[in-house]
Amino acid sequence: MAETITITDDRTGQTVTVPIEGGVFPASAIRSLDPSLFVYDPAYMQTASCKSAITYLDGENGILRYGGYPIEQLAEQSTFLEVAYLLLHGELPTSEQLAVWSHDITHHTFIHENMRKRFVDGFHYDAHPMGMFVSALAALGTFYDGAKDIDDPASRHKQVLRLIAKTPTMAAMCYRFSVGLPFNYPNNDISFPANFLSMMWKIGDDYQLDPVLEKAMDVLFILHADHEQNCGTTAMRVVGSSNADPYSSAAAAASALYGPLHGGANEAVVRMLSEIGSVENVPAFIQSVKDGEGRLMGFGHRVYKNYDPRAKIIKQTAYDVFDVTGKNPLLDIALKLEEVALQDPYFVDRKLYPNVDFYSGLIYQAMGFPVDMFTVLFAIPRTAGWLAHWQELLADKDQKISRPRQWYIGPESRDYVPLASRS
Ligand code: CMC
Repeated sequence: MAETITITDDRTGQTVTVPIEGGVFPASAIRSLDPSLFVYDPAYMQTASCKSAITYLDGENGILRYGGYPIEQLAEQSTFLEVAYLLLHGELPTSEQLAVWSHDITHHTFIHENMRKRFVDGFHYDAHPMGMFVSALAALGTFYDGAKDIDDPASRHKQVLRLIAKTPTMAAMCYRFSVGLPFNYPNNDISFPANFLSMMWKIGDDYQLDPVLEKAMDVLFILHADHEQNCGTTAMRVVGSSNADPYSSAAAAASALYGPLHGGANEAVVRMLSEIGSVENVPAFIQSVKDGEGRLMGFGHRVYKNYDPRAKIIKQTAYDVFDVTGKNPLLDIALKLEEVALQDPYFVDRKLYPNVDFYSGLIYQAMGFPVDMFTVLFAIPRTAGWLAHWQELLADKDQKISRPRQWYIGPESRDYVPLASRS
């Protein structure tokens, strides 16, 4: 029997019965009872804002799938470029499709010289790379006539290729500027992660990339590529719903990601571990969190009430990377924190487990990335997810410009008081 829900408006005795599908019922039920009645749902805790076929997340059981494929299988067997194709097209590519896709991405990696010479050079020498990256995303759109042709599928596709291809170039450019090193141009003969790492680190001609680090970067890109309706993706959809161009929408999404409760958490984790300083200080730190003096960064998630499956994969990747780079000295503190927190009723009762950001920063640091580049590393692959949601939004006939309602709690109407009469 089909599942339904019946809602009664006790003010009028009117009832409405609507179907429940996939655990969701339409808010139009409320509208049909009374168009001036609204649901108060701060932070969208109980609201499904869209239908989506891109990513499946079961937070109770710690399951994450892109296009139906388990994240564990993708991390082990796929590549970031293949995953980006999957997110945007709904299917894994055939070998011919992958060859075209990889070629097209690879041949859009260069950026206009003015982006570097005029735009990036204008930043203060110690500008945060994520602030530079956010601004560079918005600025990039001004270089392309077609950026605003969002109703033209061919133009949309072109912008998608450009954004996925150019974000690593812009990220590396922001980093090289911040340390005063000359910019490395993209190398179209190597893989997506290898090209990024080469633009980051190459000095002279003798740069050799360890394949373990290339694979680790690709795995981290895969794990961060999408995560359904998180804060950044929601920002992408909200801004995209006004028909803004994808560069401006992605800049909004990246701004949301910048915050320490979202993508900025990986940076906050490493700063937290450094402040804790040693394994002996872990119990006192956990106590201070329980006393409300701060949060255990890299723990907890709005949706996962179980171990974040990405954190498990990242923990394994960390060991692979440390075999090459040497162990990050902060690892022992992180392991102890995890051990203590997972046995402590405060964290157990609230179902707080390590999330994607808990171990990723340790890998980034071991690979040589400065802490303030961490969120940029998150944003590079997440651009593919943002664009997949942007495309889905534009094709969705149910969607309109985002425009929530409010519960007004301010003063009633009152007369203007001239300045001289105000006390
Ligand atoms: N440390 C200590 N207590 C916590 C933590 C934490 N990391 N996270 C949640 N809590 C407590 C919180 O104080 C609250 O307790 P009480 O019921 O006594 O008031 C309870 O757990 C529920 O927390 P909440 O803030 O209502 O949960 P939320 O779903 O709104 O927040 C979160 C989710 C990710 C913002 C939060 O867990 C957090 O701040 N974590 C630390 C930051 C972090 O690691 N963020 C990365 C998230 S994963 C990657 C991403 O999405 O970008």
